[in-house]
Amino acid sequence: MIFSLGHRAVSAGYRLAAFESIGSTNAEAMSRARDGERGPMWFVTSEQTAGRGRRHRRWIAPRGNLASSILEVIEVSPAVAATLGFAAGLALEAALQKVSIEASLRSAGSDHMKFSLKWPNDVLAGRQKLAGILLEAEAVTADQLAVVVGIGTNVIAAPECTPTPATSLAALGVHIGAEELFACLSDAWAEFRGIWDDGRGFTEIRRLWLERAAGLGEKVAILTNGSAVEGIFDTIDEAGCLIVRTADGKRVPISAGDVHFGSAASAGAA
Ligand code: BTN
Repeated sequence: MIFSLGHRAVSAGYRLAAFESIGSTNAEAMSRARDGERGPMWFVTSEQTAGRGRRHRRWIAPRGNLASSILEVIEVSPAVAATLGFAAGLALEAALQKVSIEASLRSAGSDHMKFSLKWPNDVLAGRQKLAGILLEAEAVTADQLAVVVGIGTNVIAAPECTPTPATSLAALGVHIGAEELFACLSDAWAEFRGIWDDGRGFTEIRRLWLERAAGLGEKVAILTNGSAVEGIFDTIDEAGCLIVRTADGKRVPISAGDVHFGSAASAGAA
């Protein structure tokens, strides 16, 4: 596959390293940062042999899906860096929307898909997971943090038997290549990274994210390290924590965990 950056990404100064196959684009990006790379730079492949998911899970995908990571080296605190994941979700949603509209125009104007964002940073089609984001950060100097935002999208196929049911663009009838999605994603990233503006623009990112949030106002259960918090998904706060309104009226901020909606939430998120 021949990957290239979009025009907006090139103008914003991004560079690209593309691979036929690699262990993990996140691992490669962080290793380059440790060796002195300061980005901003994209790492992309259509095949990973040791893909990493959130919460130390593996990310398994066949050749043809899109695996990409962005390296940004910035002077922000780890807490602020964590909010960059919401900008990534917005960029991915915008890119998916664009390729879906273009694909529907190519196939005689059939309906295009709508996507939503699941806290902290998955993209859903309906209630099925289409893409996941893994944010990793490491200090590279006294003031600088290397932030790697890894984005995995099910383009041609989705894994089976996952905790959240998964789908792919192909299964949704959106027949595009990983290269087309990547070019759109790199441009959308440049746009939303600009709005995020090293965390100064998080109020706007948060507003845009909440407009696309899955399950807002619904029953949720969040599982963190074996314990569950149940209630209503109220909002996300200025730090990006999910706020759950519990039965006793408390508003509980959650900083990490797996979210289960509706009947899965009622069933104790089994
Ligand atoms: C999740 O668990 O939902 C996050 C998955 C993130 C996968 C992507 S694929 C590109 C990048 N490289 C990795 O090893 N992981 C991320």
